[in-house]
Amino acid sequence: EIPVFDSIAAFREWRKEMIRQNKTVGFVPTMGALHEGHLGLVQTAKQECDVVAVSIFVNPAQFAPHEDLDQYPRTFDTDYASLVASKACSAILLPKVSEMYPVGITLDRSQQRGTFVEVQGLSHQMEGIPRPHFFRGVATVVTKLFNIVQPDRAYFGQKDAQQCVVLRAMIRDLLLPIRMRSIPTRREADGLAMSSRNRYLTPEMRNVATLLYRAITAAKEAIIERGVSDREEILAPAYKIIDEVSQEVKAQGLPFDIRLDYLSLVDVETLSELTTLGKSQAAILSGAIYVGTTRLIDNVLINTN
Ligand code: PAJ
Repeated sequence: EIPVFDSIAAFREWRKEMIRQNKTVGFVPTMGALHEGHLGLVQTAKQECDVVAVSIFVNPAQFAPHEDLDQYPRTFDTDYASLVASKACSAILLPKVSEMYPVGITLDRSQQRGTFVEVQGLSHQMEGIPRPHFFRGVATVVTKLFNIVQPDRAYFGQKDAQQCVVLRAMIRDLLLPIRMRSIPTRREADGLAMSSRNRYLTPEMRNVATLLYRAITAAKEAIIERGVSDREEILAPAYKIIDEVSQEVKAQGLPFDIRLDYLSLVDVETLSELTTLGKSQAAILSGAIYVGTTRLIDNVLINTN
């Protein structure tokens, strides 16, 4: 029912036809393994644009050699069925690695050849510390996808808050004629942010996986309800929750452990770490945590509307 383009040239023909029909095109880039979070972006795009294109491409350039590129879930048949069921998607772009990276792509960054896009100043803090290659890979692939799709509007999830900030800056700096839209995080009933990586969690892990959201929510409450502005005081309740849950997992002898990667409180525009939060200063409170070997990220926004 939905045309699936695995050739860039064929997709470009579809795009030309949309121009002929005077249709605005919304674009949702994904790596597949679609869940309600992705489908929410597609729904919002459909409300704001005449037609919506979704890309599914597991982008090698944003994975490090030790990361889960090979294990990353690839579930095209169910992805396709979800997009059909959504009634909101008009075209699927499923490009090949060989077309996206004409000179090839290796995960070893020192061996890479070709052209990359780097958003300086926003890519090497927060998620960019443990993953120094990551935003260069994201900015590069999104530029390529934009050049194929030529969308009027592009939709990204607030779940990946730094990705939104980096790509908004990239669109601005490269003068791309695209409206960037960032859409609130979809969560499970207990608060866990939906993520393709949640499927790696065993039921025991899934039971405790909400701890990061509970932690950053407690920190946000310190700001909103108690008016706390000092960084350490803001983050204290978050560290406390993570500590308690880690201890509990240990005490119960569960066959995995919990390891905090980082908690972060940054200005929403500069992404620089704050020691003091200004009154009504817009900020991102975020973190990353390992539950077993699965790395989960989450964030909440402070003073953004
Ligand atoms: P992926 O992780 O597949 O996510 C695709 C889009 O869905 C991103 O914009 C992401 O922020 C959004 N998303 C994921 N979980 C969400 C949730 N729970 N609620 C709302 N939106 C959610 O992010 C990427 O792929 C890649 O980096 C990509 C931009 C496609 C470039 O390769």
